Amino acid sequence: MSKNAKLAVLGSINADHILNLTHFPRPGETVIGQNYEIAFGGKGANQAVAAGRAGANIAFIACVGADDIGERIRQQLAQDNIDTSPVEVVAGESTGVAMIFVNREGENNIGIYSGANAALTPDCVTRHQQVIADADALLMQLESPLESVLAAARFAREQQTQVILNPAPATRLSDELLALIDIITPNETEAEILTGIAVHNDQDAARAAAALHDKGIGTVLITLGRRGVWLSEQGQGQRIPGFSVNAIDTIAAGDTFNGAFITARLEQKAMQEAVRFAHAAAAIAVTRSGAQPSVPWRAEIDDFLQQQG
Ligand code: RIB
Repeated sequence: MSKNAKLAVLGSINADHILNLTHFPRPGETVIGQNYEIAFGGKGANQAVAAGRAGANIAFIACVGADDIGERIRQQLAQDNIDTSPVEVVAGESTGVAMIFVNREGENNIGIYSGANAALTPDCVTRHQQVIADADALLMQLESPLESVLAAARFAREQQTQVILNPAPATRLSDELLALIDIITPNETEAEILTGIAVHNDQDAARAAAALHDKGIGTVLITLGRRGVWLSEQGQGQRIPGFSVNAIDTIAAGDTFNGAFITARLEQKAMQEAVRFAHAAAAIAVTRSGAQPSVPWRAEIDDFLQQQG
């Protein structure tokens, strides 16, 4: 794959309603927040934006509602270097919504209304299958209907388009879908749900990765939060530490990692170098608040890496 290699991202678009508060409300408790904002998000859109800003040649298959915020999000995506022609406007639906609490430790809790994202059906995938056929890689997550993710993965395999799945939010997946994936990028919780192996240390990560290799996945990247990433290729594993920064908000850190990682791979960067590039992008993102507002541009990632030496 070369610098002009094409990426297709298939996934969700949300309007994120973000409330910062000291601590998460317990059942029955009301907590007064310190700051509220609406920012553009959704795992699919965040990953598409991370790839677009990092310099990928990318098209995004997604759905928004026929509402004002959906139109503003589409315009913003186009400004982020994304081909938005496969973004459909769904009549009679609202754009997806995420209600997000962020506590003073920078952790978050998220509730979602799928809205127009639910209209990304297998038929919708079929309407945009040329985008997948033309791409060198297809990046997906799990905020879209599972049957559509499966349909897209099947078609991508037929077309020899590499399939990358970020299995978030966590859910169990069929062996059929897992066998169609070339690269999977779960966090510790998602790895446990997929494999039944709780990931507390490198040995656990290696075992979880082996279980995913057994399902037919060649490359496994388990993100380990502050400890970095466990990279396992055909059973050969190693941990690649991330960068230490002052994190204020982890929303979209994983999304930024995914979008930057695949961009680097499509530029033919070696696997370790691509992980380091993605670590840098995610490290910048956690120092800023919100989802897409936190995603860095290529020049910022390159500067960050240069400063690290
Ligand atoms: O991964 C972060 C994203 O998850 C947020 O932008 C929110 O929309 C939810 O989809």
